[in-house]
Amino acid sequence: MSAQSQSVLMIKDLKKTFGTKAVHRGIDIELFENEVLALFGGSGAGKSLILRSIIGLESPDSGAISWRNRNLSGLSENQWIDIRKRIAYVFQNGALFDSLTVFENLAYPLREHTQMNEEQIRAKVAETLAMVDMPGSEALLPSELSGGMQKRVGLARAMILEPEIILFDEPTAGLDPSNTARFVQNILKLKARGLTGIFVTHDLASAFAVADRIAILHEGKIYCAESPEKIRQSNDPIIRNFLFPEEKT
Ligand SMILES: Nc1ncnc2c1ncn2[C@@H]1O[C@H](COP(=O)(O)OP(=O)(O)OP(=O)(O)O)[C@@H](O)[C@H]1O
Ligand SMILES: [Mg+2]
Repeated sequence: MSAQSQSVLMIKDLKKTFGTKAVHRGIDIELFENEVLALFGGSGAGKSLILRSIIGLESPDSGAISWRNRNLSGLSENQWIDIRKRIAYVFQNGALFDSLTVFENLAYPLREHTQMNEEQIRAKVAETLAMVDMPGSEALLPSELSGGMQKRVGLARAMILEPEIILFDEPTAGLDPSNTARFVQNILKLKARGLTGIFVTHDLASAFAVADRIAILHEGKIYCAESPEKIRQSNDPIIRNFLFPEEKT
């Protein structure tokens, strides 16, 4: 991130209540071009809800979300489909179509949203699978893949339309250390190509490895959003309790 970084996503004073439960009490997030923001928060704090609100799967009670100065509210379903090509969401479980091969899972968005011919689709799928360390896996079914592989294919599917922003919902949850490391390597590779994204996680090591800033969602608000260095050095008890609970005396 440099001083001239452009703001690509702006979330202002987002509020959402379910029944009597105020989940978001005024969320403010600004995401800059080529920035990866890691988002922490307790279970049920409303992290997924932020991501789902960005892509229009939930509508906030109040507040505003804008993407490159375009207000993302009151859009038609077709407009949302268009936005979701530019802002991709990596679901926690990969959300692959079980009955389709890896190739068909990846070809699907290309067939839906581009004019590519079969040869171009084949090349694009092969290139994207190589990027997530899954070259040659086109013919496999999701059930033939390990959890880690499914997540990498989920990432490949999110990447394939070359979105401007990728939202990751706990991409390393449930992965063993070697698959986590592999996923982190994939993210770093994407970062080298200019990835902009939000990375919801409970995994501190992965967040420190990939994030430009670390944000903590606490009591319905973004409590802080700072560089990993600042977070590491912080003496703030809420930050330390949250991120380094083992230090608790
Ligand atoms: N559509 C909905 N209807 C009712 N309650 C909802 C809905 N979506 C989210 N919630 C509630 O909002 C709160 C936040 O949910 P969310 O899924 O964003 O949490 P989270 O921070 O992602 O948690 P986790 O780390 O467990 O995934 C939860 O209490 C959840 O029950
Ligand atoms: Mg969640």
